[in-house]
Amino acid sequence: MSRKVLVTGGAGYIGSITCVQLLAAGWQPVVFDNFSNSQPRVLDHIAALTGVQVPLVQADVRDAAALATVFSQHDIHAVVHLAGLKAVGESVRQPLAYQDTNVTGTQRLAQAMAAAGVKRLVFSSSATVYGEPEGLPLVEGMRCAPQNPYGRTKWHCEQLLADVCAADADWAVTCLRYFNPVGAHPSGELGEDPRGVPNNLMPFMAQVAVGRQPLLRVFGNDYLTPDGTGVRDYLHVMDLADGHVAAVTALDAQKGFEVFNLGTGTGVSVLQLKASFEQACGQTLPTVFADRRPGDVAANWADPSRARNALGWQARRSLQDMCDDTWRWQSRYPQGFDTAHPDSS
Ligand code: NAD
Ligand code: WQD
Repeated sequence: MSRKVLVTGGAGYIGSITCVQLLAAGWQPVVFDNFSNSQPRVLDHIAALTGVQVPLVQADVRDAAALATVFSQHDIHAVVHLAGLKAVGESVRQPLAYQDTNVTGTQRLAQAMAAAGVKRLVFSSSATVYGEPEGLPLVEGMRCAPQNPYGRTKWHCEQLLADVCAADADWAVTCLRYFNPVGAHPSGELGEDPRGVPNNLMPFMAQVAVGRQPLLRVFGNDYLTPDGTGVRDYLHVMDLADGHVAAVTALDAQKGFEVFNLGTGTGVSVLQLKASFEQACGQTLPTVFADRRPGDVAANWADPSRARNALGWQARRSLQDMCDDTWRWQSRYPQGFDTAHPDSS
């Protein structure tokens, strides 16, 4: 009998692919999502890929009663908590909404878990908690000084969860600091489907390639980096999903609070990512150089060795895999999950 994992935000970009990888590893995901940034049909795509219609609870993580019901109706072994708001610019305009969903949501979830005696949790954190890097590559013990409200909510959650573990030795919590997740499921059936104009580089380029955006703006070409453009640690979402499987599996033998960077350990510039994506889609993307984007750091990349040593996890997929899989998804579903199914015509 496989064990159940509650996946909050399980209909989202990372959550949906994490469900597929959890199923492949023999876990039974239960999705908890309010569809504020996703759609129910995502679960049909998961079913088409895996043959499993994952159980769904449509509810809000701030809803204590809904959480209590889930834990009473399902024998949940562990929780992967991905539900949250994630747009940096929006968080500057709506700090209270970010505090409410991200921090209060995490607090309510932890309360419901404690009441149900389920004390194993994997939490979606972000490399954005570091802010301006103290050094490169980034190591988990380095200073955290997030530079925007979104990053501060993730940092507050990490500290709250560390305090929960310090107060009760029965808890095992792992915070995963993702660097820059990109890519899609290699089938092309699941991928990132941002609402409105994409904030992030890879989905923006993908939308330029299908004609949904007119051109790419490269934010800054005068950074102190090899080609002057920003450098990041792009990570395939399949590797990230595998990292969640490794982290959930490790909770059984874990006591207390852990934090791991999930990245490749390699920095890639905007122009390098663009060149790989152009290779994938067979087009040259119309591009202009624009001013730096406020709040951006010049470069960051992870030291992922702690996750390798403790979880046995490391990123395996290449930059070209990230671009090829993004393009397979975007070209198959140019309007994301609103696209009519390619095999239905
Ligand atoms: P996403 O928006 O695709 O997925 C989040 C899911 O949570 C969505 O399905 C949304 O409907 C759901 N959700 C939002 N608020 C909710 C609420 N109050 N109650 C229930 N469900 C709610 O985002 P993603 O890229 O898959 O990110 C997942 C997590 O990873 C987030 O916590 C995000 O902050 C974190 N993260 C993402 C990135 C990234 O670049 N994508 C990087 C670092 C960390
Ligand atoms: C990458 C590079 C841009 C768009 C963000 C969040 C972070 C995390 C991951 C959630 C930078 C440049 C971008 C464009 C560009 N999310 N760029 N033109 O900013 O590293 O991280 O997503 O936790 O918190 O801040 O990712 O993809 O937005 O930018 O030139 O149209 O691409 O300046 O150098 P970022 P990104």
